[in-house]
Amino acid sequence: MLTSPIGVFDSGIGGLTVAQAIHNALPREEIVYIGDTAHMPYGDKSPELIRHYAHDISQCLIKQFHCKALVIACNTASASAYELLRDSFKGILPVINVIDPMVEYVISRNDLHHVGIIATKATVSSGVYQEKISRRKKELNYSVLSTPLLAPMIEEGFYNNSISHAILHEYLSNEVLQGIDGLILACTHYPLIKPEISSFFDHKIPIIDSAEVVAAKLKHILEKEKLLNTAEGFPNHQFYITDYSDHFVRTAKLFYGEQINLQRLNLSNE
Ligand code: DGL
Repeated sequence: MLTSPIGVFDSGIGGLTVAQAIHNALPREEIVYIGDTAHMPYGDKSPELIRHYAHDISQCLIKQFHCKALVIACNTASASAYELLRDSFKGILPVINVIDPMVEYVISRNDLHHVGIIATKATVSSGVYQEKISRRKKELNYSVLSTPLLAPMIEEGFYNNSISHAILHEYLSNEVLQGIDGLILACTHYPLIKPEISSFFDHKIPIIDSAEVVAAKLKHILEKEKLLNTAEGFPNHQFYITDYSDHFVRTAKLFYGEQINLQRLNLSNE
């Protein structure tokens, strides 16, 4: 149904940055968001386990919430589980990952010659950014660095303070990032520390996150598949997390940009 919601999920509340961009780009669409806080972080899990979690959440978004499109608002889950989800739900609903729209965007920018990519360990070791960039734009150089402390640090509420500054300084001074002319935030948690990252580089290079490009891609797909909601009125978004604490509620507000009602969700097969 055209009024059915868009399912969006992440390992935690970082994907709310994508949900927010979707809300801005498609204000009539209802969103059901699931943050798998019970299993966060995904970034140090095996691809098999990430696929298992991602498949369970997707089944829930389809069966319980009758979603008409699925957005994997997590680079780590996109890197490990996108093909599985796309093939499992082929002909049922479109599945959008965060990596392809980001790669399309980056290769379309002629001002970039050497990009840095920071991401979780699982995203880096999947090699997916490296493979997609070198296949599509050989002359674009890239340097990849795993920054595994960042997502848990942010999820724990450590940003814009001395701890986040020290950790960022240590990571971003790594010699592999020397000489980059743009930095891809290949983790949906990182937009929250974008100002701190930009200031490390003296605001001299673009710091690129995927939220808006993913929302634009989703809009394009919904238009193409004739799935846009044409009904009048304000959508009633639903936000769920698989493990609840007050701390998530506080941080979620920062990620989404406004107060949201986070509820606990039991995935039926647990
Ligand atoms: N937000 C997720 C991503 O985009 C990862 C965070 C995690 O390690 O769970 O990669």
